[in-house]
Amino acid sequence: MDGFASLKMFIEHTLTIRCSNYKEDYIKRRLLSRMRSTNSASYEDYLAYLKANPPELENLRNALTINVTEFFRDADVYDSIKKEILPALFKERKRLRIWCAGCSTGEEPYSLAMMLAELMAHDPGISAQIFATDIDKVVLAKAQEGIYTSKAMVKLSEKQIHRHFTRLPEGNYKVKPTLQELIRFRPHDLMSGVPVSRWLDLIICRNVTIYFNEKQKDALVKMFHEALVSGGFYIMGKTEYLGRQVEDLFVAHNSLQKIYSKKN
Ligand SMILES: C[S@@+](CC[C@H](N)C(=O)[O-])C[C@H]1O[C@@H](n2cnc3c(N)ncnc32)[C@H](O)[C@@H]1O
Repeated sequence: MDGFASLKMFIEHTLTIRCSNYKEDYIKRRLLSRMRSTNSASYEDYLAYLKANPPELENLRNALTINVTEFFRDADVYDSIKKEILPALFKERKRLRIWCAGCSTGEEPYSLAMMLAELMAHDPGISAQIFATDIDKVVLAKAQEGIYTSKAMVKLSEKQIHRHFTRLPEGNYKVKPTLQELIRFRPHDLMSGVPVSRWLDLIICRNVTIYFNEKQKDALVKMFHEALVSGGFYIMGKTEYLGRQVEDLFVAHNSLQKIYSKKN
């Protein structure tokens, strides 16, 4: 069996992703991008790297299923956002500006909006605006439409579903306008700068930078740093990390959950 076939078998078995569902060219392109990022010279090298570095499995999964997302992805991170980050930010100002960069089909900004709506219900004096962007207009259109299958709703409580969604006749769920009003969706390439005026309180850019090289990642982190207010937060995906060139720009609030605050 050649290196590519062994790697495919490993992916099918370990990640339970059916490679045959994708064009071979596509799989090869995605694999090559991960191989470049991990300095693997061949399929065999990359397979050995994967076996020796389990966190890379998640990077590969994301690379193969580019737009994958879910409501409250990494529950512990959302728990910290709700219990620590949002209350800390609301202490500083009554109206928050949040940027959700690389929002895919919208589950991430809607999860944030649900938490904000719950906090706002307890304190009518506070409010927030979420700017949600993605380079992919197809996923963004889905996000804007806000219709999800019942399978996509598994992480939501009955209460959240009842409060924020309307059940459609065919069994799907549509986000209520009260939640949608908190979010502005807009197509945007992260490589082209900040899409809104600065002074952001929170930037969530999770599981996006794994497609970027080190130079691009560092430039992005510098851009986020400049766009945040002093003491603002930047949250990245759990398998992402701050490069050496930029790690001094932030202080870890929770390094496992990859929650950082801007150093002044
Ligand atoms: C794996 S999804 C992550 C979705 C969500 N942030 C999450 O963690 O669940 C990555 C998203 O990043 C978007 N993306 C990739 N490159 C981008 C770029 N240069 N600018 C903006 N979005 C980008 C993709 O279109 C995709 O929707």
